[in-house]
Amino acid sequence: MKQRIALIGPGRLGQAVGALLQQAGYPITAIVGRDQQRTHEAAEFIGASLMAGTDLKRCSRAELVLCCVGDDQLAPLGEALLDVLADTPSPTVIHFSGRHRAAILRPDDPRAAHWQVMSLHPLQTFASGEQGLNSLPGSYCAVEGNDELFPLGAKLSLELGCQPFRLRSEDKERYHAAACMASNFVTTLFHQASTLMAETLEDPAMAKTVLAPIFQTAVTNTLNLGPHQALTGPIVRGDIDTIRGHLEQLAEHSPERLPFYLELAEQTRQLAVESERLAPERAVQLKNLLDSFTSLS
Ligand SMILES: NC(=O)c1ccc[n+]([C@@H]2O[C@H](COP(=O)([O-])OP(=O)(O)OC[C@H]3O[C@@H](n4cnc5c(N)ncnc54)[C@H](OP(=O)(O)O)[C@@H]3O)[C@@H](O)[C@H]2O)c1
Repeated sequence: MKQRIALIGPGRLGQAVGALLQQAGYPITAIVGRDQQRTHEAAEFIGASLMAGTDLKRCSRAELVLCCVGDDQLAPLGEALLDVLADTPSPTVIHFSGRHRAAILRPDDPRAAHWQVMSLHPLQTFASGEQGLNSLPGSYCAVEGNDELFPLGAKLSLELGCQPFRLRSEDKERYHAAACMASNFVTTLFHQASTLMAETLEDPAMAKTVLAPIFQTAVTNTLNLGPHQALTGPIVRGDIDTIRGHLEQLAEHSPERLPFYLELAEQTRQLAVESERLAPERAVQLKNLLDSFTSLS
């Protein structure tokens, strides 16, 4: 028999997780939100509309309490659950934040001594319940908490279609920084490139369109070949004059972009050196060139 689930916070992630676990045969005994109408709609999406409500007490019968509220709500929710779970035998209380450790859920209170706490973080982005439902299968999921809880975390991850892996609590913040770099900074990079590109085009609205194929190929090559082999362009070729031209033009026309370009150029130079595809003397010349513009920016 699969464990009884209460889901608190049926938002983007909660709807996707709830629907997948419901489909996997977990009995959902409560879906708790703040607003009755929104909670009812979310519960319909999950496939358990009769379980919708706004009263946390509905969670007291659950064996697994899934806390899918926003990150800032996790600690207050843990406090609010103290009375609710007081008579629940060994509840496992789970959150899905990439940022926080599982321990954020457990208040420093003897009434929480019988709880188990765990975090499951799917490395995926959820713009809506429906999109999350489709995107989760095939993703990876970090399981963090007591070692003895890993089999349960792994099982739930697999039920969501995700490949589980273990994450140490002390590594959680750096893990999350890495995840944000991969999912957010790529977006920022594309924004920087497309706004600069727009300044050069007769039709600025074409900037994203013309960059899309090269951007997609660069990401695909990076994933398929690895960064060292995927790297192309003037830095790894050691074309110093080309880089000087970029820097001079940016300094003249878009000085506000110079620090961003210089930082990434230096990181790219180091990657080229690591890949042993940039001759050492060229690497030094390039460093001197970048340094000379860094002092201007
Ligand atoms: N979205 C992502 O891409 C993603 C990816 C990985 C992990 N996560 C994690 O998943 C968690 C949820 O994120 P989300 O993007 O799904 O957030 P969300 O769409 O804003 O959903 C949060 C839900 O929690 C409800 N809620 C907030 N406080 C509550 C409370 N005290 N009691 C009951 N319900 C409450 C909200 O209700 P209202 O409708 O009233 O606001 C909403 O339904 C976060 O920990 C986040 O870090 C998200």
